[in-house]
Amino acid sequence: MELTDQEITTSREETKKILPQYPGRRGDLIPILQKVQEKLGYVPAPAMEEVAAYLGITPMDVYSVVTFYNQFRLSPPGKRQINVCMGTACHMRGGNIILDSWKRRLKIDVGQVTPDREFSLERVACVGCCTMAPVTVIDGEVHPKVTPTRVDGLLFSFGMKIEKEGGKH
Ligand code: FES
Repeated sequence: MELTDQEITTSREETKKILPQYPGRRGDLIPILQKVQEKLGYVPAPAMEEVAAYLGITPMDVYSVVTFYNQFRLSPPGKRQINVCMGTACHMRGGNIILDSWKRRLKIDVGQVTPDREFSLERVACVGCCTMAPVTVIDGEVHPKVTPTRVDGLLFSFGMKIEKEGGKH
C-alpha cells in the first residue's frame, strides 16, 4: 500500500521521537517497534529505516522481525477495525463462516486493509462474550450472533454498497 507524503513524514518524525528513549542496543528492537506501532498504529517502511539506522542494523533485519511477529502491522489500519472472534465458542458456532463472509464482502484477507482504507480485518481470540457467539467486534462494539446476512446488514449500515453474490452493477 502506497503511503502519502504526509504519512512518510509523520512516521519518520514520530519514530525519531521514540528512539532516544532507548539506549540503542540490538535487544531494543522489539520494544521500539512495539512503541512505534502503539504510536502510529502500524510499522511503515520509513520507520523501519529510522530504527535500523539507530540500532546500526540493516532495514532488512528490521523488516524480517516485523514480518516474523504477527503482532506488527505493515500497513495503516482502516478507519473501521473489524475483529472476528475465533475463540472456541465462536469457532464452534460458525466463526469461520463469518470470517469468510467478511473476507468475501470486503475482498481482503485477514490482516489486510481495503484499498479505500475504510476497513481492516483481523481474527481475534475469545473476547469474553461466548454466550453471544459467533461474535464480531467493530471499533470496540460487540455484535452478537452474527450471520452472513448480518455481515451484509452491518456493511450496508456503514454505507457500503453490497453486491449480490456473482451479481454485477
Ligand atoms: S469464543 Fe468468541 S467470545 Fe468467547
